[in-house]
Amino acid sequence: SVKLIYCQGEKEEHIVIDQQIIQKKQAGEFAATLITDGMIVGLGTGSTVRFFIEALAAKINNEGLNITGVTTSNKTSSLAKSLGIKLASVDEVPMIDLTIDGADEVDHQLNGIKGGGAALLFEKIVALNSKKNIWIIDESKYHEVIGQFPLPVEVVPYGSHHLLKKFLAADMQPTFRRTATGERVTTDVGNYIIDLHLNRIEYPQSLAYFLEQTIGVVEHGLFLKTVDEVIIGGNQPTLISNT
Ligand code: 5RP
Repeated sequence: SVKLIYCQGEKEEHIVIDQQIIQKKQAGEFAATLITDGMIVGLGTGSTVRFFIEALAAKINNEGLNITGVTTSNKTSSLAKSLGIKLASVDEVPMIDLTIDGADEVDHQLNGIKGGGAALLFEKIVALNSKKNIWIIDESKYHEVIGQFPLPVEVVPYGSHHLLKKFLAADMQPTFRRTATGERVTTDVGNYIIDLHLNRIEYPQSLAYFLEQTIGVVEHGLFLKTVDEVIIGGNQPTLISNT
């Protein structure tokens, strides 16, 4: 259910946030209608995907479907298990039929930034082993050029201070991602996240290449030519195809 929070002086902001939640739910529930019996389904990570997974679990129960989920994070595994969805690891399946994931920002060419939930590495592995990838987003994330959302870069802890300095020198405004209590965020495999505050990424391919050549970088959150379709939540969800 959706909560409306009204704070004096901040009323408008809370309405906008609420609209995003509604669109996330609409996109997630629409994505669940695309799942058919026998599918191996990649399960992304995040608050939008949560709506999808909840709708999928209900559909599996109501229609008695045989679905196998392949998850992209420990968080998603716990959620899917708690809802009774059968799971397999990416290495136990020949290929994933369809992966439904969220995204932090998407441009008009359907390049995306992912990793806001620090799950970019497994999300990319699952995406690359999927026949089809669909992202579910609310409209606030769809921009002409990506980069407003800080670009997550997953790095090995050993030598990460030097990497931070390298990104600083390249004017990439890097920060270690931290928890609310100030500790460094670690990914499911124990790496750190450095967020690059770039504002505008005009040449995502060149940036991806630079990061892939940088020793100590495990993965970055630029997902280029990865997604086949994007669903933007709405009363009638909008489907944008990568053709
Ligand atoms: C996690 C991700 C998420 O898909 C992305 O952060 C979107 O999250 P949300 O649906 O909560 O807005 O990439 O690593």
